[in-house]
Amino acid sequence: MNRKVSVIGSGNVGATAARSIADKELADVVILDILEGVPQGKGLDMLEACPVEGSDARVLGTNDYADTAGSDVVVITAGLARKPGMSRDDLLQKNAGIIKAVTAEIVKHSPECIIVPVTNPLDAMCQVVYRESGFPRERVVGMAGVLDSARMRSFIAEALQVSVENTHAFVLGGHGDTMVPLPRLSTVAGIPITQLLDQATVDAIVTRTANGGAEIVKLLGTGSAFYAPGSAAVEMVEAILKDKKKILPCAMFLQGEYGIQDLYVGVPVKLGAGGGEEIIEIALESDEKEALNKSAAAVKELVDLLGL
Ligand code: NAI
Ligand code: 2OP
Repeated sequence: MNRKVSVIGSGNVGATAARSIADKELADVVILDILEGVPQGKGLDMLEACPVEGSDARVLGTNDYADTAGSDVVVITAGLARKPGMSRDDLLQKNAGIIKAVTAEIVKHSPECIIVPVTNPLDAMCQVVYRESGFPRERVVGMAGVLDSARMRSFIAEALQVSVENTHAFVLGGHGDTMVPLPRLSTVAGIPITQLLDQATVDAIVTRTANGGAEIVKLLGTGSAFYAPGSAAVEMVEAILKDKKKILPCAMFLQGEYGIQDLYVGVPVKLGAGGGEEIIEIALESDEKEALNKSAAAVKELVDLLGL
């Protein structure tokens, strides 16, 4: 293997993503955490799974950023979960501090890498990474839309009893309750779902998609989703490493696209070796544009709190 991916944070999402990258033999993997022993133990366990999976990927768990040096892609999943008594703002400030420190280390050791932030609140954390790294916007591309659209695709496939492979879902905006699933542009075998499902079913799919993260949190009781988020991050990593030019919904720093200025928001992006190589702009109807603006305003509120 001559490609290298580092995953910062060896918790649920980080470990799930690292394992999948190694299993798919996409790259050698370094998994890093501040917890001593945990990344080392998980990394060794993943390495020992490779002979069974038929993968020659090398996996290393570490606390030392020197081991991440020369990474092609770095996925950031490090962060704190909200604890009792901690407000959303406290969490925002705490995770921003963590992400800032993590980014400085990434840039120092892998100055040419592409960074895929995953930590929440996603769009605001992307803005932290972008400002702290000084990288061009193409090299800081956030993961959320791939997850949100995967959720929508699974609900569409279930409602129509079709293969998930026939489904395509369009979700724009920030990763939160204000995200904008677009049924008009979501299709099954190229046919808009609005022609295949009644309005009540479409509305239910849209609502369930927007609440997809909360649905899992409620079921788990503690912690949040990690299988689908891990898979979603790896789809982005694979598109970058293989220069697939795949169009995926990602958080990108908009500079006038969709009428939004200097803000990370989820939009369709062409992902390839250069990272987020192109933002695809589509004509939105007025209600869709209004919903996107509302979602962007929610992201801006957090970014303003961070003074970014
Ligand atoms: P987790 O709590 O299982 O793992 C987080 C890990 O980060 C822990 O192992 C912790 O020790 C580590 N960490 C904390 N500070 C660190 C630092 N300074 N340096 C390195 N590691 C550090 O959490 P989980 O479930 O893995 O989620 C990770 C993040 O991803 C959360 O912020 C979560 O909200 C977010 N998330 C985002 C999604 C998205 O669509 N963008 C989807 C799912 C999760
Ligand atoms: C999710 O959507 C928590 O952002 C995470 O599952």
